[in-house]
Formats: sequence, C-alpha cells, structure tokens
Amino acid sequence: MLKIAVMVSGGGTNLQAIIDAHKQGKLSGVTIDCVVSNKPDAYALKRAEENGITGVCIRPKDYEDKDAYGRFLAQYLSERGIGLVVLAGFLVVLPANFIEAFEGRIINIHPSLIPSFCGDGFYGLKVHEAALARGVKVTGATVHYVDAGTDTGPIILQKAVYVEDGDTPEVLQKRVMEQAEWIILPQAIKMIADSKR
Ligand code: GAR
Repeated sequence: MLKIAVMVSGGGTNLQAIIDAHKQGKLSGVTIDCVVSNKPDAYALKRAEENGITGVCIRPKDYEDKDAYGRFLAQYLSERGIGLVVLAGFLVVLPANFIEAFEGRIINIHPSLIPSFCGDGFYGLKVHEAALARGVKVTGATVHYVDAGTDTGPIILQKAVYVEDGDTPEVLQKRVMEQAEWIILPQAIKMIADSKR
C-alpha cells in the first residue's frame, strides 16, 4: 500500500480529484493518509475533514528558519510512513533538506506544458495570464518529480488543452483543470503506486 500525503495551499480541487478517483476505485493500492496545508483557512482542509482524512496546518513562519521547517515536515511525514508526497496547488518553495529527505518521492502538478510558463513566479492564475499574453494556442498541465529547482524535475505526465478565442485567465484555468490536471494527477499517482508493487 502506498501512503500518500497531499500538500495544499488553497481550494484543493486537485485534492478533490484524487479523493474522487480513490472513491471510484481508480487508486487501488493507494491510501490518502493526510493533507498538509500551509494556510489554516485553506478550503482544501475542509475537503479533507469532510472525507475523514487527517488535515494539518504546518506553517513555515512557525519555525525558526527554513531548515527547521523542512526537518519538522520530513519527520512528520516519515513518522506517518508516507511513501509519496503530492504537491497539489502547494505554493510554498520546499526547503532543500526536505527535498533531500524525500528525494524521488515528491511530485507536483503544474498548470502548463513545462518548460513553458514555469519556474519562479509562475503559479496559479499567473501561469494562464502569461500563456494568454504570449498568445499560445495550446497549453496544458504537467505532473513532474520535484528536485532542487523550481519545476525542473523529471516529467511524468503531460496533457495538452486548447486555448479558445475570448479566454480569460480564469476561463482557461478552469479548462486546464477539468481537461488536464484533474485527470493526470490521479493517473500519475496510480502509475507510481503500480511501479512500487
Ligand atoms: C492548480 O491549478 C495547480 O496546478 C496550481 O495551483 C492550482 C491549485 O488549485 N499549482 C501551481 O501553480 C504550482 N506552481 P487547487 O487548490 O484547486 O487544486
């Protein structure tokens, strides 16, 4: 059984997609062990509660420095036996010591086709604003492993989504979520779980 922790900062629609896939039996071999937020009021924590999943808020600012935050996070997740950390709209840059401790066991969903519109400063709606400003006709989403850089780790899955005339960042964000993110994130988790059997 692969125990996963889902890390979130906001609404948690990607978390919901994982929960729904699990309920539909599409994530056999996976346990959603806990949801970790850096924001106490993240709606994602409510989704965790509603689904009987342990939800905790662990805030970087409650620790002396990034190292102490990373050490605590690594210890918390190790003690729970977490085999895979899923960043699902988690908007904090993780400390290097945490990434080292969980090397090869952290994945992230990013709302563009990496290497376009990624790296420092590209998160959430900003990604879609940049895609529209550049005038791309196709965008999408990427699931990748997390390494020491920002959005630089090995790519696991990508799915393309068409930009349509008249799209606003909000409309495009919703289409990318519906047609790509909510599909490939559970798929990537399943692929990793199957590879570890
Ligand atoms: C998602 O679009 C996700 O891809 C993005 O934040 C949103 C979170 O939505 N993540 C990033 O931009 C990471 N760089 P959600 O809380 O509803 O899942």
